This record gives sequence, structure tokens and C-alpha cells, in this order.
Amino acid sequence: MTVADKPSGYTGTQILLHWAIAALIVVQLVLGEDIKPAHRAFSRGTEPAAADMFNANIHVYLGLAVLVLAIWRLAIRLQRGAPAAPPGESVMLKRIAAATHLVLYLVILGMPVTGALAWYFGLGTMGEVHELAKPVIVIVVSLHAAAALWQHFYVKSDVLVRMLRPARRLS
Ligand code: HEM
Ligand code: HEM
Repeated sequence: MTVADKPSGYTGTQILLHWAIAALIVVQLVLGEDIKPAHRAFSRGTEPAAADMFNANIHVYLGLAVLVLAIWRLAIRLQRGAPAAPPGESVMLKRIAAATHLVLYLVILGMPVTGALAWYFGLGTMGEVHELAKPVIVIVVSLHAAAALWQHFYVKSDVLVRMLRPARRLS
């Protein structure tokens, strides 16, 4: 795909999906531990307390919402492609950005799937993968956010603005 074939920016739907998923991921990271008491109770074969089950349901349903939104988002992304990197960006930086975005897509699709396999099918290994991913996600999202702010304030490219304002001419 040449630069001329690439869309000039993101659609309003893509932007809404980006920020809705980002907010849900942050909530899941902050409140993730709240599902553990209920999960432990089920693993022991006992009934969880009502309050623990309430907390667990919040984690499960917000997480499944991320999966639905992520599939929607990936479908639009595959259909439209992504806008070109800022002019003059080095090949190395382009590769780092593409790799980071790939990891972030793996996170928003993979976390709900591993969580669901642990929760609904009692797959302990998937639960471990799900838990071990937490620090990795914190690091990758921090780098991603820092890169966006660096592009905006230091490089002065349109990268952050195009994830805030829909492109006028959508191709
Ligand atoms: C966006 C998606 C999700 C994120 C970012 C996320 C994040 C987390 C975090 C941070 C923890 C705590 C890890 C720790 O304290 O070490 C956790 C635990 C857990 N999550 Fe999720 N989660 C997501 C979706 C889901 C879904 C959809 C389910 C189930 C349907 C689920 C089931 C679980 C279970 C069962 C645990 C406890 C694992 C254990 O005790 O071994 N998660 N999650
Ligand atoms: C959990 C949180 C986040 C996730 C999962 C996430 C995920 C993603 C993904 C997958 C893309 C690639 C879009 C595509 O081409 O389809 C992207 C782009 C972008 N993200 Fe995030 N993001 C998160 C948080 C943030 C934050 C906090 C910021 C800003 C401070 C940010 C700023 C951006 C910008 C500016 C782009 C556009 C990059 C470009 O057009 O080259 N994101 N994000």
C-alpha cells in the first residue's frame, strides 16, 4: 500500500473505540485483583461471597465488552488500513510504532480470551498468562502514551490530534 492509498486519518468511530477501550483497560488493570477472591472460591469448590461475586462480574463483563469493541475495531482497521507515519520518521521508529500497535491489539483481544478461559473453563495456565501480562501491559501502554505525547509536544506531528479529531476527508 502506498502513502497515497492510506486513509488521511481515523474515523469518529475508530477514535471513540480507541478511547473507550483505553479507559476500560485502565479500569481492568486497576481493579483486576477484585476478581481473585471469587475465582479462588470457585477453584476450591466453594461458593463465593455475594460481594466477591459482584466484583468478579464487573471484571468479567467489562472485559468481555473490551473483546467485542476490539473485534469491531480490528475489523475497521483491516478494512481501512492506518494513516501514514509522520513525514520524515525513521524506518526504525516506524517499526517500533507498528510493533507496539500489534502488541496492543494482542492485549485487547488476548486478555479477554485468556481471562475467559481461566474463568469459565478453570484453565490455570491461562490464568497465569493473564496475570503475568499485567506488568507487560503497563510498560507497553506507558511507552505508547509517552510516544504519543512526545510526537505532539516535541516532534509537533499530527499523530495525537488525529486520534482526537476525525479526518475531514475520509478515504
Ligand atoms: C481487557 C481485558 C482484561 C484485562 C486488562 C484484565 C486484567 C486483569 C488483571 C490486572 C488481573 C489481576 C492480575 C493480578 O493481580 O496479578 C486479572 C485477573 C483475572 N481476570 Fe482479568 N482482565 C481482563 C478481562 C478478563 C475477562 C473477560 C475475564 C473472564 C471472563 C477475566 C478473568 C480474570 C480472572 C479469572 C482473574 C484471576 C486470575 C487468577 O486468579 O489466577 N479477565 N485480570
Ligand atoms: C490501554 C490503553 C491503550 C490501548 C490499548 C491503545 C491502543 C492503540 C492501538 C492498537 C493503536 C493503533 C491504531 C491503529 O492503527 O489501528 C493506537 C493508536 C494511537 N494511540 Fe493508543 N492505546 C491506548 C492508550 C493511549 C493513550 C493513553 C494515548 C495518549 C496519551 C494514546 C494515543 C494514541 C495515538 C495518538 C494513536 C495514533 C497513532 C498513529 O496514528 O500513528 N493511546 N492505540
